[in-house]
Amino acid sequence: MDFKELRNKYVSFFESKGHKHISSSSLIPENDPTVLFTTAGMHPLVPYLLGQPHPEGKRLVDWQKCIRTGDIDDVGDPAHLTFFEMLGNWSLGDYFKKEAISWSYEFLIKELGFKPEQLHVTVFEGDADAPRDEESAGYWESLGIPKERIHFKPKEDNWWGPAGTTGPCGPDTEMFIDTGLPACSDKCGPGCHCGKYIEIWNNVFMQYNKQEDGTFIPLSQKNVDTGMGIERTVAMLSGKKSVYETDIFKPIINKIEQLSGTTYGSDEDTSRAIRIIADHIRTATFIIGDERGISPSNVGAGYVLRRLIRRSVRFGKKLGINKAFLADIAQVVIDMMSQFYPELIQNKQRIFDELSAEEAKFETTLQTGLNEFNKVAGKLAEHNQTGISGKTAFKLYDTYGFPLELTLELAKEKNMTVDVDGFNEQYTKHKEESRTASKGTFKAGLADHAEETTNLHSATHLLHAALRKVLGDHVQQKGSNITQERLRFDFSHPQKVTPEQLKEVEDLVNEQIQKKMPITMEVMTLEEAKAQGALAFFTSKYGEKVKVYTMGDFSKEVCGGPHAQNTGDLGRFVIKKEEASSAGVRRIKAVLVKE
Ligand code: SER
Repeated sequence: MDFKELRNKYVSFFESKGHKHISSSSLIPENDPTVLFTTAGMHPLVPYLLGQPHPEGKRLVDWQKCIRTGDIDDVGDPAHLTFFEMLGNWSLGDYFKKEAISWSYEFLIKELGFKPEQLHVTVFEGDADAPRDEESAGYWESLGIPKERIHFKPKEDNWWGPAGTTGPCGPDTEMFIDTGLPACSDKCGPGCHCGKYIEIWNNVFMQYNKQEDGTFIPLSQKNVDTGMGIERTVAMLSGKKSVYETDIFKPIINKIEQLSGTTYGSDEDTSRAIRIIADHIRTATFIIGDERGISPSNVGAGYVLRRLIRRSVRFGKKLGINKAFLADIAQVVIDMMSQFYPELIQNKQRIFDELSAEEAKFETTLQTGLNEFNKVAGKLAEHNQTGISGKTAFKLYDTYGFPLELTLELAKEKNMTVDVDGFNEQYTKHKEESRTASKGTFKAGLADHAEETTNLHSATHLLHAALRKVLGDHVQQKGSNITQERLRFDFSHPQKVTPEQLKEVEDLVNEQIQKKMPITMEVMTLEEAKAQGALAFFTSKYGEKVKVYTMGDFSKEVCGGPHAQNTGDLGRFVIKKEEASSAGVRRIKAVLVKE
């Protein structure tokens, strides 16, 4: 079964159980400053898991594009991926453990054809926060899974969420396929990383809302959140040990082989380089080609994108590719995936342009790095020294993108040595710092829908409408990022917004606030919403039900919510800054001041 068939089967199966198929959301979370990318199918659904009604009802199914960049430098082994697709089905306060477990079993065994004896499951063993999940274990047993294949595990293993520090979470039950490999030790079991047991599906029973003070209070509605990784499941179904050996990667790997004249599998270094390029360019293609696509930069998601591209170029050179090649690989990704993600076709030229521009820029950087190396080497030689310090080697790595091996090679040519331990020390230090930084990004909590953020979200709608009235209808939202303190809004506009125009926009927004207009929500199809003049720039699938938020006769916009009840609740709107974001896109930062 290939990756096309798997997703179609999954969606049809859950449609037959009363679920509505919703489309994948953007990879760049909207109004969520706590993460750089969408990391799971549940992520765009957090407001609904917390109790907002979803326009498509209480049972949903989808495939969601996801990115997890825990440590990009670890990608290269046969298992790690930065981009992956997650199949998911949700119950928003509807069915719970019994149905979720029996449908999971039915789908795995009857639809996918796994043998019941291949299946191992884990369930939550219980602690001070929540009881032992005998209920889930009981359902598994009643389906015929013997006790010895039902494993009780602690919170580290069998609890999911919250995605940030607060929000929806609960015990989960995970499904593992026994690949038939011999056990690596007596302790080997589901959760062991030796490759015998592969986790392919997770059913989370979200019944708690974790609070700031660390306590768990029951959620007003009990939800089911499930996630099945497409890549891993396809690998299991096709009897492959690695996701890179499946049809999901074959065409991409073939292209890299053809461009480099190498063969995947010929030796470990070659295979690793090919895997890195295949993974990274697939991810980069999706990031640039997203409905909220971004460009490489030195901060946040843009920096992740830059690292993915540059690492690919480096490994391309290792394979002996001496010309620009990233766009050729992106083309293969687009050909394979655009039937499921039409935005890749719409943004095709942008993908090629951004990849090629960054590739060229990196060439120049490498050249500068070489000059820097020669300078350092020259200075050392002047002083009759031959040792390149760890700090210098790390600077070459971090600032100029020089892998350590390249520095070692160049040093050898000049009969010099490199302090490798010193380099590693710097590297580890840097890694810890960036980990702490990315934890910080997570800190505010994914489910942070405090009053301040909700009000800023409503202010964003007023700002969007005001910009279109003052500057013209070419203005479209290109991105939005909200913290408790401020909103940040990116929109298309070819030149700087003048101070007079900004004042006009600000006044217009404040006028709407003073009018104390009720903010109302209606559910309708996207076509109906558009016919009513609602702004809808990020919705890709037609026929789907959407929520439309209206603020008087001033603003009408398709949006997931949540919003304030009345514009009068917002306070005074003040624009703090207007600047360029990228070519043809401007950025406004604004705050709400309580009167
Ligand atoms: N949120 C859970 C996961 O990511 C299930 O979808 O595994």
